[in-house]
Amino acid sequence: MTVAEIEIQWPNGTISLTKPGIDWLQVARDAGIIIPTGCLQGSCGACEIEVNGEVVRACIAIVPRAKSCQLKVDFANDPFW
Ligand code: FES
Repeated sequence: MTVAEIEIQWPNGTISLTKPGIDWLQVARDAGIIIPTGCLQGSCGACEIEVNGEVVRACIAIVPRAKSCQLKVDFANDPFW
């Protein structure tokens, strides 16, 4: 069975395709997006992003399966994103 690709909409308007299960920092890098990081262990919150309105820590989270095959990413906390 093939896994459906997920379309990611980034805050700057970029759209990329990926598969569920890949970590967010890698997906962002592949799309040319830099997510700020700190501890890389899930404790500092520097890497927080919103995925369809839900805050996740990108350094410890993976792209989830999405029924719609679309995920919208916003950058949490930092108004300069
Ligand atoms: S880099 Fe610290 S929580 Fe992700």
